[in-house]
Amino acid sequence: MNILTTRLLLRPLAMSDAPDIQRLAGDRDVASTTRDIEHPYEDGMAEKWIKSCQEQSQSGELVHFALTLAEAARFLGAITVRMDFRPSALVSSSKKAELSYWVGKPYWNQGYATEAVKPVLHHCFTILELDRVYAAHFTRNPSSGRVMLKAGMLYEGSQLGPTVKWGIVENLELYGVTRSQFELRGSTGSP
Ligand SMILES: CC(C)(COP(=O)(O)OP(=O)(O)OC[C@H]1O[C@@H](n2cnc3c(N)ncnc32)[C@H](O)[C@@H]1OP(=O)(O)O)[C@@H](O)C(=O)NCCC(=O)NCCS
Repeated sequence: MNILTTRLLLRPLAMSDAPDIQRLAGDRDVASTTRDIEHPYEDGMAEKWIKSCQEQSQSGELVHFALTLAEAARFLGAITVRMDFRPSALVSSSKKAELSYWVGKPYWNQGYATEAVKPVLHHCFTILELDRVYAAHFTRNPSSGRVMLKAGMLYEGSQLGPTVKWGIVENLELYGVTRSQFELRGSTGSP
């Protein structure tokens, strides 16, 4: 499914995105604050990642979007929503998912991540009918926290470790939003 915003077209990742993904995700500064992007980003890794996104999308585990500039059809980054099928401690029937995203460094601080995350959250609650969406960023990556707040998520606290990136223990900042919270806050865009 495609989502159109003021400046962006969010569409499923395609194999033809591989060169852009290798170039942009291959930047050490992009990889450094993500849990999963490796560095160096070698030939074939983008194709493998796209294929795995497409397969997991077919099995209902993942929803993926390429962030592209609508006018220029330029690839900027990616967003994924990973379904979390673990039973919730409080509500066993609750449908939840984890949000992740990255934007290529030449496009940082122009509001693109926020412009994309907001409608993806809306998609999560309306089309995917999720009850809750959550995300986390490394403490040393506050710009991602700004994106989450601006997109309508709520800060839920810190977690010390146990995530390890490149041999270093990373502390996490946790965010989440339920459907009813998003309906109240997300639609107004208030952080
Ligand atoms: C995090 C990331 C997605 C942000 O994308 P983006 O398109 O630049 O985000 P936006 O422009 O929508 O918003 C960035 C916000 O962070 C703020 N920001 C930038 N650097 C900051 C810093 N060092 N400290 C605090 N805020 C900062 C910007 O000012 C902006 O907030 P504002 O609109 O209130 O001024 C992008 O930097 C990225 O892809 N990083 C590498 C991968 C990554 O970290 N992904 C997220 C993993 S959780």
